[in-house]
Amino acid sequence: MESALDWHRAKALLEWQVELGATEAILDAPVDRFALAKVQDRPGKAARAAAAQVAEPVRERNEVDAVEVARAVAGAAKDREGLKAALAAYEHCELKLGAKTLVFSDGNPAARVMIIGEAPGRDEDRIGRPFVGRAGQLLDRMLAAIGLDREAQEPERAVYITNVMPWRPPQNRDPEPGEIAMMLPFVQRHVALVDPDVIILMGNISCQAGLGQRGILKLRGNWAEAYGKPALPMTHPAYLLRQPLAKREAWADLLSLKARLGG
Ligand code: URA
Repeated sequence: MESALDWHRAKALLEWQVELGATEAILDAPVDRFALAKVQDRPGKAARAAAAQVAEPVRERNEVDAVEVARAVAGAAKDREGLKAALAAYEHCELKLGAKTLVFSDGNPAARVMIIGEAPGRDEDRIGRPFVGRAGQLLDRMLAAIGLDREAQEPERAVYITNVMPWRPPQNRDPEPGEIAMMLPFVQRHVALVDPDVIILMGNISCQAGLGQRGILKLRGNWAEAYGKPALPMTHPAYLLRQPLAKREAWADLLSLKARLGG
């Protein structure tokens, strides 16, 4: 299916649905309406309980399968190009349908530092590279302050950047747990192929994926282990744009990264 639904086409499709009489938005996860209809024919409380039982396994079964497929195809990727191709061919994540571009990575894969952000925003979706909008420009300035640069050739000065989600979520909403679970095998393989010395977990979604925990304001600045590598959770530059006072702590975290890299 075509993945790049532009805004006008999406709007026209929605208007067409409304003309046909659609009154409800569809859900993110598919629901087997035929199975639901059968159990909903039964009366009262029992019907509701049975409907819930049907809906839940349908969703779970889809997620489990999608994660298994992700594990198989990501695990088979021999290099970054293969991993990107596997992601491009992966059809189980609905975010892909609303995104213009697959945002895979930027920077130097030989870098010692790998940054894992959350998900592309509008600018990244348009351009196809992670962290190119306002938050990305702040990130570049933060990295420059400790001598790092995504364009650098030398691994000591370079960074490699990716996101947990390669597709932009609608209205920049947080990715859902099921969507993160599907992408996790790809991120794990990505880290294994790039093999950085350290990882920066940029923001809550990245911590949720890498550490299984949220609460970035508590986690930030504390070195942990993610994907088998030393990992430093940091507040997301988008948060720093909204809360400039938090830049002080982000600076402390950058110095911690610099010290970890040996100077
Ligand atoms: N925020 C992210 O986490 N990643 C991007 O690529 C852009 C904004």
